[in-house]
Amino acid sequence: MTVRPAAPPRTVVLVSGSGTNLQAMIDAVGRGELPLDLVGVISDRPGVRALERARAAGIGAWTVDCKSFADRAAFEEALAATLARLAPDIIALAGFMRILPAPLVGHYLGRMLNVHPSLLPKYPGLDTYRRALAAGDAWHGSTVHFVTPELDAGPGILQYRVRIGPGDTEDSLRARVQQGEYLIYPRALRWLATGRLTWREGSAWLDGRPLPAPVTVAEGAPVA
Ligand code: GAR
Repeated sequence: MTVRPAAPPRTVVLVSGSGTNLQAMIDAVGRGELPLDLVGVISDRPGVRALERARAAGIGAWTVDCKSFADRAAFEEALAATLARLAPDIIALAGFMRILPAPLVGHYLGRMLNVHPSLLPKYPGLDTYRRALAAGDAWHGSTVHFVTPELDAGPGILQYRVRIGPGDTEDSLRARVQQGEYLIYPRALRWLATGRLTWREGSAWLDGRPLPAPVTVAEGAPVA
């Protein structure tokens, strides 16, 4: 008897900008390292580089332009409808700079991940590099986490840490942290796609055990 592997999960990526994290996912899928079926990319802003990256990879690309709707509710309704048509198993927020409404998050709870450029729970929201430098922090980084209705507050899965040096600027720090995102985000998605990572009663579970804290990867360390 032939055992057919389960189909890779249908995955939609939400973007707002340059899409370098999207590119890391596309590349990892192309190398056979990430078992996702990338069925669509949705941007809330027209003309962004992430949409070009999607099209170049043969992935359907949609814009649900927040500015072209009468109000926030109409935008959110259109976004939810576009998502529903794509019937995703997994949603990856990759530089998506909008807060999603609670009912939409609830609908995809446990199936929606985000990458946020800070060592959460530190610095939810914007300007994380500036805030970490201004505070004189020794460490900064990025966190992949499950999305819950509260902003940047869902259970952490993987965290990439970089040591802040005396010469670091917002730009240098961003460049180093983003290199780490390209490692940890595909890795977390692979865990989710293969069933190693699950959502149970408000917590992240890895390999059948609750994750008390995100798995940490330090700059320079190998990522399996
Ligand atoms: C990423 O570095 C991500 O951490 C950040 O936006 C960048 C998008 O870059 N996300 C947030 O700030 C979300 N709060 P990309 O479009 O090149 O992937």
